[in-house]
Amino acid sequence: MSDHYITLEQISKSYAEGSATHQVLNDLSLTVAKGEQVAILGHSGCGKSTLLNLISGIDYVDSGTICVADANLTTLSERERTLFRRRHIGFIFQSFNLIQTLTAIENIQLPLQLNRYPTVEIDTRAQALLARVGLSGRGDAFPDQLSGGEQQRVAIARAMVHSPALVLADEHTGNLDADTGREMVALFSELAKSEKQTVLMVTHSLAIAKTADRVLRFFNGKLIADDNPDATDLAW
Ligand SMILES: Nc1ncnc2c1ncn2[C@@H]1O[C@H](COP(=O)(O)OP(=O)(O)OP(=O)(O)O)[C@@H](O)[C@H]1O
Ligand SMILES: [Mg+2]
Repeated sequence: MSDHYITLEQISKSYAEGSATHQVLNDLSLTVAKGEQVAILGHSGCGKSTLLNLISGIDYVDSGTICVADANLTTLSERERTLFRRRHIGFIFQSFNLIQTLTAIENIQLPLQLNRYPTVEIDTRAQALLARVGLSGRGDAFPDQLSGGEQQRVAIARAMVHSPALVLADEHTGNLDADTGREMVALFSELAKSEKQTVLMVTHSLAIAKTADRVLRFFNGKLIADDNPDATDLAW
């Protein structure tokens, strides 16, 4: 058995654009080890969010295979993919995707409820994460009563609260000011390391990329570099 936690084999993904097709990812192969923290860099539109959507099973490939842990996502049904995602994956979406009709604390509790945690644990875990992201006292606020940065912190807490084995972060500090961004990167990295989580994080920040174990660079849907951040000059 391989020790790869994620294996992508020759995956391709395109979207229809009128009568034409737009090839977003093209014959991409990649493996990620368990516990590895991987940063993903690349220009806008190069397919970074698409890649995370495919690995989480939110979207599916045109061809190729995606395995996460022991599951071959490309052969699972929609329902099985949803259950897999719920149990094993935390996703911080580029646009947060908080549920507007739920308060901050209820958004954070959601993965625990869906995974049927005991009520007391739902409460304690959610409150602890709310405090860790610096939002104690704002738990009853609805997303539209929170700033962009505060919403992003709720999204980070929601993605981490059920200690998922895999965390997918799509520009998880994009809306935060420099100081809060640094704090969140440190917290995120500390939580992920303490839980031995595998992390894929999309970022435009070289400073954040340098906190990862490995940096992947994409250009037009192709992997063009796979580097150790210490060993290389990360000038973009
Ligand atoms: N559901 C969709 N339908 C049609 N085209 C899509 C869809 N999702 C993404 N695309 C297209 O695929 C390409 C890659 O999009 P993607 O969101 O993966 O880029 P990205 O690298 O995350 O960019 P950014 O840094 O701006 O977030 C874009 O040209 C986008 O328009
Ligand atoms: Mg994106």
